[in-house]
Amino acid sequence: MNNENIIEIKDLKKTYENGVIKALDGINLEIKKGESVSIIGPSGSGKSTLLNMIGALDKADEGSINVAGIDLMQENDLSDFRLNEIGFVFQLHNLIPNLTVLENVQTPLIETVISNKKMEERALKILKSVNLADKINQKPTKLSGGERQRVAIARALVNHPSIILADEPTGALDSKTQDVILDLLLDIHKQENVTLIMVTHEHDVANKAERSIYVLDGKIKEIKKN
Ligand SMILES: Nc1ncnc2c1ncn2[C@@H]1O[C@H](COP(=O)(O)OP(=O)(O)OP(=O)(O)O)[C@@H](O)[C@H]1O
Ligand SMILES: [Mg+2]
Repeated sequence: MNNENIIEIKDLKKTYENGVIKALDGINLEIKKGESVSIIGPSGSGKSTLLNMIGALDKADEGSINVAGIDLMQENDLSDFRLNEIGFVFQLHNLIPNLTVLENVQTPLIETVISNKKMEERALKILKSVNLADKINQKPTKLSGGERQRVAIARALVNHPSIILADEPTGALDSKTQDVILDLLLDIHKQENVTLIMVTHEHDVANKAERSIYVLDGKIKEIKKN
């Protein structure tokens, strides 16, 4: 593995429904440490599947995928990998409704050895950085869409992951809030040198990343430098 690359994927394949659906049909991709990349392509082309493979939420059928020095096809216990290396931001921010903002952000830390006091300190610091210091005791149901998405970003960052995977992080938001969330992700990427990979349908969003990867029918059709 090239030292500069945090992700190396070769001939990766994933099918569903006993091979009928070729969600990923031979993906080859290298991503450098600290890079920002957008993934674009039509609905059903395999974008989320690719992201889920990188985050080890699901396993590929064939090929190789190495992320942050871990061979994801060989390694069986990937819980530490997910906990330490990956911050996931989903489209529908799946926050836990009966927990407060502060508690939601702390959930990824519960399985670590970090003390309760440290957990709270970290969550508070990150919530301040996404401008939600005044909402920490609020429940997610009382927040706006953009505020919820900022909580989801804070939660994805609380472990100091080396890679942020964002699956249409701004898809459910109005265009002004989209820009705020996107700039926030890009700022964090720059300041903390975190690798950022985001799936998006919006071309102006995609163009803000250093490279755009166009996926069609489970294959990479084009990689463009922005
Ligand atoms: N768990 C699953 N079981 C069966 N088929 C699936 C599953 N997940 C995805 N697929 C299929 O795999 C293909 C790729 O899906 P994927 O979710 O990766 O697309 P996508 O590019 O993220 O689309 P969208 O832009 O709509 O989110 C699609 O044909 C989809 O129907
Ligand atoms: Mg998707």
